[in-house]
Amino acid sequence: MLLSWLVRAAPAALLLVGVNASPVADHRKRASLDDFIKTQTEISLKGVLANIGPDGSKAGGVPAGIVVASPSRSNPDYWYTWTRDAALTYKALVERLIAGDTSLKQKIDDYVTAQAYLQGVSNPSGGPDTGGLGEPKFNVDRTAFTGAWGRPQRDGPALRATALTIYANWLIQNGGATQAKNTVWPVIAKDLAYVVKYWNQTGFDLWEEVNGSSYFTIAASHRALVEGVALATKLGQQCTGCAEAAPQVLCFAQSFWTGSYIDSNINVNDGRTGKDVNSIISSIHTFDPNANCTDATFQPCSARALANHKAVADSFRSIYGVNKGIAQGRAVGIGRYSEDVYYNGNPWYLATLAAAEQLYSAIYQWDKQGSITVNSVSLPFFRDILPSISVGTYQKGSSTYASILSAVKTYGDDFIAVVQKYTPANGALAEQFDRNNGSPLSAADLTWSYAAFLTATERRAGVVSPTWDEPSNNVPPKACTGTPACNTKTTFNVRATTTFGENIYVTGQLTQLGNWSPADAKPLSASKYTNSDPLWFAEIELPAGTVFEYKYIRKTANGQVVWESDPNRRFTTAVGCGSTATVNDTWR
Ligand code: NOJ
Ligand code: NOJ
Repeated sequence: MLLSWLVRAAPAALLLVGVNASPVADHRKRASLDDFIKTQTEISLKGVLANIGPDGSKAGGVPAGIVVASPSRSNPDYWYTWTRDAALTYKALVERLIAGDTSLKQKIDDYVTAQAYLQGVSNPSGGPDTGGLGEPKFNVDRTAFTGAWGRPQRDGPALRATALTIYANWLIQNGGATQAKNTVWPVIAKDLAYVVKYWNQTGFDLWEEVNGSSYFTIAASHRALVEGVALATKLGQQCTGCAEAAPQVLCFAQSFWTGSYIDSNINVNDGRTGKDVNSIISSIHTFDPNANCTDATFQPCSARALANHKAVADSFRSIYGVNKGIAQGRAVGIGRYSEDVYYNGNPWYLATLAAAEQLYSAIYQWDKQGSITVNSVSLPFFRDILPSISVGTYQKGSSTYASILSAVKTYGDDFIAVVQKYTPANGALAEQFDRNNGSPLSAADLTWSYAAFLTATERRAGVVSPTWDEPSNNVPPKACTGTPACNTKTTFNVRATTTFGENIYVTGQLTQLGNWSPADAKPLSASKYTNSDPLWFAEIELPAGTVFEYKYIRKTANGQVVWESDPNRRFTTAVGCGSTATVNDTWR
């Protein structure tokens, strides 16, 4: 017994010693990673399908095509369908369909039907034409969720449009042009109309916490608009405003670059560095297999996206116990952002997988282009994994090219190995793993975790999503002009008795109302104020046909801010550019 243990253990111990130097050891490590990927891929696909109605094993009673975020019904309660999670999940399923798994077609058709329905459900973010498509989540029975939440979240419509556009293009190529035009396009068209109308408005980020401008939302919006224009043309349909908005969105996207990384949330004072896996997820979502290493669209192999990869990864090196003692250049567990306190802040499976996916996608792009360029922006990224490298362009066939490619592949695999290490034996992927002991945490069987495993390992195998036409849509205009606004004039009348030195302001959910920030609230005028009619008023340009919440605030002579009592007020602006509306309120 002891002898056989020795016999079996000895070579393994030797292999461990030589883990970095010996090609044999490397091979052994790879083989086991390959095995893990093989079994975990099957588990992940099953994990995704289990959470989709009507027949998912963990989605009992859920309507067809509805994706449950996780079967967890408490601590946390994820028994809802999020537009974002569902769209990213279905993007992965459509990619598998394109790669040949036609057994998924019915499920995808169910998704189209379910989303067409949800687009018509009025909810706290608005009605079908007044902002309701920005609602982040619905009850699984497809009714509106009416509790308090970080809303709207404007990435949902863009992500859904992309998943459906990829599908529509596949249909066109596979004899389904009529279905693409009559059934899929109408859903895409509504989502793109939403993007055209609202992309320049602030909203909540993908983590549902920060109300500002999120890089992920903007990047996803750009991609969706560009491919939407191409699809509309193919189908002989109109995508009104899409072609005009797209370059403006790309222009705005440039303002998130700090010089060394993407600040994931701008137009908000959130007290964070902005290093957030938001940006890495943006890069993998907008990866175009035909693109060069374009900085402007933050392609996975671009110098900016690689520098950002390092900045984000490094921001997690020292803060998690599970990352302690792991050398620079080796993979670590990646969370959402370092200041995160949700469940005390931990690494997430989908975030760690995204870090791998970016690297595999970059490898695909270099291989296709036949060269790798290292410049001053990306040099620190490359130095971590290949200390001897210097600035230059390395052609395919050269030994330096081969060394870089292999170092990036090893680094990518290392992120998968981190996931492997913290995946329980049964392959169940929760949302997070504990920052200190690595055990699974928060929502169990998170659909998005499984989907992230599928896409990361597909990229590793060279399976990619179709082009979205990035090569002809990657040059931002020299100056951002915004989109021509479709505004309405809203007159705010509020009767509020004030004492000398006090002033009344309005603030709320819209950029034009200062986004709930008292400092940016809009002043009302007292020019019509009398003792018998204490009227304060303001005429403010607001986006047409938009639901928003607001409140009045009172600022005292010494600068103290007094808010009205709850609940927030709600109003829908008039429909149609240049129209007008009036609200008559009484201070409370
Ligand atoms: C629930 C959200 O889903 C999560 O992203 C967020 O961190 C927490 N609420 C705390 O705001
Ligand atoms: C919390 C995450 O922050 C958010 O992105 C996600 O949509 C929900 N959980 C549901 O998975």
